[in-house]
Formats: sequence, C-alpha cells, structure tokens
Amino acid sequence: MTKGSNLPYRQLCAELGAPVLMSEMVVARRLRQRRRSEFALIRRAASEPCFGVQLAGNKPDELAWAAALVESRGADFVDLNLGCPIDHFTRMGLGAALGRQVTRVARIVEAMRRAVSIPVTVKIRLGWNDSHRNYLEMARAVADAGASAVTVHGRTRQARYRQPADWDAIAEVAAAVPIPVVGNGDLLFPHEVEHRLATSGCAAVMTARGALIKPWIFREVREGRYLDLTAGERLAIYRRYVELARAHWGRRAGSEEGDGAGAGADGELDEHARTRIRDFLRWHVGFWVRYVPRRPDGSWPGMQQREAIVHPRSALEALLTRTDDAAVDYITDRLLDGGDLDSPPPVPEGDQSADEPTMVETQG
Ligand SMILES: Cc1cc2nc3c(=O)[nH]c(=O)nc-3n(C[C@H](O)[C@H](O)[C@H](O)COP(=O)(O)O)c2cc1C
Repeated sequence: MTKGSNLPYRQLCAELGAPVLMSEMVVARRLRQRRRSEFALIRRAASEPCFGVQLAGNKPDELAWAAALVESRGADFVDLNLGCPIDHFTRMGLGAALGRQVTRVARIVEAMRRAVSIPVTVKIRLGWNDSHRNYLEMARAVADAGASAVTVHGRTRQARYRQPADWDAIAEVAAAVPIPVVGNGDLLFPHEVEHRLATSGCAAVMTARGALIKPWIFREVREGRYLDLTAGERLAIYRRYVELARAHWGRRAGSEEGDGAGAGADGELDEHARTRIRDFLRWHVGFWVRYVPRRPDGSWPGMQQREAIVHPRSALEALLTRTDDAAVDYITDRLLDGGDLDSPPPVPEGDQSADEPTMVETQG
C-alpha cells in the first residue's frame, strides 16, 4: 500500500503475526532513473518473514529489469500492479489502465518470469468498469504466462470503494485458474477472513485497510478469535509503531546525514526526521481512530460504513475514536513525544466525524 506499507509499519504487522508483507507500489521507471526515494521502497526489514515488492510499469523490458533488481535486493516475490486507479498513473498506462491490456500483460509476466527465479505474482481488479469486467480473461492469461499466484481485489476501477467487494467474482477466478488465488476486499474481523477462506476457494486472503485500522488483525487470524483490545492495549501497539519508526527514520540531533544512527525510543530526533515521522504517524492515526469494536448487541461493524463507538468504555477509548483534526494532532504529538493522553482538546461543537465517508479516495 502506498504510504501504508512503509517499512516500520510492515515490521509492526510482522510482529503482530502477518505472514506475508508487500511493499508500497514501486514505479519501475523511477528505479531505472536511480531515484533514491524509490530505492527506499524496495528495502526489506530483517524481521519480515516473506516480503514482496509490487511494481508498476507497462514495458516488458523495464519490468524485467526491475524484477531482477528487487530479487537481488532480497525480495521473496515480485508483484505486478494492475489495480492502481489514480489518474496520474492510469494516464501513463500504468495500474488499472494496464489491466485493460491482456496481451501486453501476458508479455510482461513472461518477461519478468524469465528475469528472476523468485515467484512473479499479479494483482488485478475485476475490470475497468461494469461494462468492462475482464477478470477471468486476465487471470487466465497471467496464469498461462507463468504467474505463480494472482490477487483479486473484488472491485472495478470505477467502483473505487463505493460498493462492497464482489466475492462471488473472486470465487469465479479461484475456480477458473490453476494457480493460487488471493482474495482481497473488506476484511476487518477474523470471522470474515475465516468465512471467505472457507467459501471462496481462495488459497489466501489479503487485507489492506484492515491492517491500517487494526494491525492486530493478524494476531486475531493466527489465534482464530476476535480480540477485544482495551484502549490501553491499542495504545501500546501504536507506541510500538513509533519506536519502530524512530529506529528506521530517526536521526539523532547532531548526527551525520545517512550515518544510520536511528534514534531509539528516547533519543532526541533531528528536525527532518521528526517531521517525516510525524507525517507518517499522523496519517496512521487517521486510520487507527476508525476502529470500532464489536457492538454491544454482538453485531459487527463493517468496513464500508463509518460509525462511532456508541458507548466508549473509557476516556481513552473515547479519545481514540475522535476524527477531528485537533484530536488527531493531539494523539499524534503525544505518541511522538511519549507523553500521556490525559488532557485531550475539547470536542469541537457539532462534530460530524461519525458521518464522514468511510475511506479516503486512494489507491487500490
Ligand atoms: C492507503 C492505501 C494504499 C494502497 N496502495 C496500494 C498499492 O500500492 N498497490 C495495490 O495493489 N493496492 C493498493 N491499495 C489497495 C489495496 O491493496 C486493496 O486492494 C483495497 O484497499 C481493498 O482491500 P481492503 O478492503 O482490504 O482495503 C491501497 C489501499 C489503501 C487504503
């Protein structure tokens, strides 16, 4: 996930039980241009049990070259992005736009396969829009071209997040191709993962927003049960992310650029490192405050509806459900500084946060 799959966040998810992790989307051409920022995206953490790099591009030779590069840097598998809906990329023929070109995709997968010995996988959507749903044709083509697995996000490019993922279509793919299919869309609680695995024919499932909203979803799936974490337990997980982020991006005030001196939990950060960590942290807090536990009547909140916790069980839980800017800034700054969260800003009058749409328009 762009931004979300940053290295320290992947480390956090790995600690919480994620068995397979994927990089942010990496543009093959930018690697070729030797852009440092793109090279940072293909770095793996030692603690990642299985790490894939996802590439965006549309030229067989460029993607083959990039696949070989990421293999040489330690990736366990390399994935091709056919899902990115963002105009900036689709106008260049990448992501979901490439997903309309079955023959070209097959050529790309063949070229990537020839260039590496690690598995090549592909992530697709159902199609461009409702009148162009080519998922079966595309999945068969990438399987024939030698892909080791295909991930299916059960929506078209045009649907963005407006409709629920179509798991019937995902199941159709699983029945149609001889390679493992990874199903993706709307998984937030462990019983949902269990249900989809049992009924879709998928070999595995992938979660994106679920991992951002509640990174302990991986622990839940491993343990096979819903974990009703207290606000304090949630906070400990968020603080762990700050520790990992400081160790990764942190530079102690006064240290040399690039000397690898990641500031530990207590080290003072230089201004550049602090700004960067704060930016990522605030972005993550924006997802963390969307978490809603199982409702008191035993029913489950869904990924697609935004709702507030009706009866917060503590002042901290009430704070952690606030989406207004003042609260998100306050949580971010207290986490960054390691301080208590016992004097939150007043709730803005007429706070409408519970009525906001579910998700930012973003990747996928
Ligand atoms: C912040 C964000 C960034 C994303 N970036 C990528 C990406 O780089 N590559 C990709 O294939 N999908 C990306 N996606 C889409 C997800 O991988 C996934 O297909 C989609 O969100 C549906 O799954 P979910 O319901 O579990 O969120 C992104 C999603 C989000 C929310």
